[in-house]
Amino acid sequence: MSVFEFDQSLQLGIEAIDTQHKRFIGYINDVWDALERGDGHDEYLFILNQLMDYAMEHFSFEEALMREHQYPGYADHKKNHDSTAEQLFEFDMRLLADNPSESRAFVQFLQDWLQNHIKVVDIELAAYLRGKGVS
Ligand code: FEO
Repeated sequence: MSVFEFDQSLQLGIEAIDTQHKRFIGYINDVWDALERGDGHDEYLFILNQLMDYAMEHFSFEEALMREHQYPGYADHKKNHDSTAEQLFEFDMRLLADNPSESRAFVQFLQDWLQNHIKVVDIELAAYLRGKGVS
């Protein structure tokens, strides 16, 4: 069951970024599904780590794109990614894998953050890239 849907309000018109956001949301939904199923520690830890790895991969991808196109908002956008990564790493995945209520708080935090970040921060990057002919 998908809890977090990718809809028009999250579509930025830059194919690579939209594709990654869909995947990112897919990993978030995998965590919700694992919680719903009551997966055991190892399976659940694997899914949590996949989500964390993908979040970091996505941040690096966007940052490389910003540098490549000399995005003037690079420093602020990167700072936003970095502080979010710090907050995420404050959660211990091994402990989360044994604590469903903490885990729900973690995934809800990431879901709310991503939704807001796409609509407020990534949207500006997308507008800039479209202006540079990226689609
Ligand atoms: Fe799509 Fe800036 O993260």
